[in-house]
Amino acid sequence: METKIVTTDNIIEAGEIIRRGGLVAFPTETVYGLGADAMNEEAAAKIYAAKGRPSDNPLIVHISDIEQVDLVARDVSEDAWKIMNYFWPGPLTVILNKREEVPHGTTGGLDTVAVRMPSHPAARALIRESDRVIAAPSANTSGRPSPTTAQHVWEDMKGKIPMIIDGGAVGIGIESTIVDMTGEEPMILRPGYITKAMLEEVLGTVQVDPAVSGRTMKKDVVAKAPGMKYRHYAPKGKLTLVEGPEEQVIDQINQMAWEKTRQGYRVGVIATDETLSRYYVGVRRSIGSRKNSDTIATHLYSILRFCDEFELDYIYSESFFEDGLGNAIMNRMLKAAGYHLISL
Ligand code: TXA
Ligand code: MG
Repeated sequence: METKIVTTDNIIEAGEIIRRGGLVAFPTETVYGLGADAMNEEAAAKIYAAKGRPSDNPLIVHISDIEQVDLVARDVSEDAWKIMNYFWPGPLTVILNKREEVPHGTTGGLDTVAVRMPSHPAARALIRESDRVIAAPSANTSGRPSPTTAQHVWEDMKGKIPMIIDGGAVGIGIESTIVDMTGEEPMILRPGYITKAMLEEVLGTVQVDPAVSGRTMKKDVVAKAPGMKYRHYAPKGKLTLVEGPEEQVIDQINQMAWEKTRQGYRVGVIATDETLSRYYVGVRRSIGSRKNSDTIATHLYSILRFCDEFELDYIYSESFFEDGLGNAIMNRMLKAAGYHLISL
């Protein structure tokens, strides 16, 4: 199949593809999505095929207007409406009870449905133009880092889908926060740009799924969002995270990087704007500035992809636990590192 990369001026043609049951990759404010008609089981099946995604991993249904919640969900609680009204359009996904009409092929067999109203104008224009609600996971091959540019999507999806809408680099760079609103208490299933503290301002107390918080892999805890249990985001080389006082972290990384370089391996170091000049071996890159964790989120996935491009065998990175967004960043980085974290 020939894959066309088009500008955001080609929304009419893209909408036509979605209506006919085809796939279109499109930008959102978080990461690029791979979209299909959410109510068409055959169309949704094509997403799983293109990504090589396990079929029990449900898709997020994207809407352009809040009224469309009623097309896919039932028995929506007052609290759920509250956060949807407050944070949409934006990087928040809400788990609701699904309506019968939503095929199990979209929800991975679950009776709940994940719903999100993105703020990216191209995403919303596509949903409107197609006159459908759009199921869309991140537009990467399953297991690879999520795409934050059309180029990333091209690397993973060329030849597999008819169209990629190029909206430039995304703004946020990590996937939406997922909050389950079907239980007794709201529960965060995947940390993201909308932090626990932000949700608590609107809802009061919010729980966090134990499987997605903390620094160690909890062996007996099964993640409530099916997708969070899979190995994810991972570069091919071995990534090690180091946390602790800055001086010690830098020394430790330099030492490990030097040792592996001496053994003949290709080594990478993930630093920050503030510390980049203090490293002296391997391929060195800054992920962003500690003064602005938004910049770290924005560059995270391109750096992980870059590790593969340079065919790095060992990658050493600083850690970013500091604030709310730091939780989301470290959740992704710990998974990419297989929870390999050195605490000094
Ligand atoms: O920012 C985002 O959310 C991006 C953009 C494209 O919107 N999408 C995205 O989709 O990250 P994906 O498929 O990569 O991740 C969806 C996550 C998975 O972990 C999946 O298990 C979870 O959402 N999920 C979907 N439906 C669910 C449900 N009914 N209950 C629990 N988790 C669900
Ligand atoms: Mg994904």
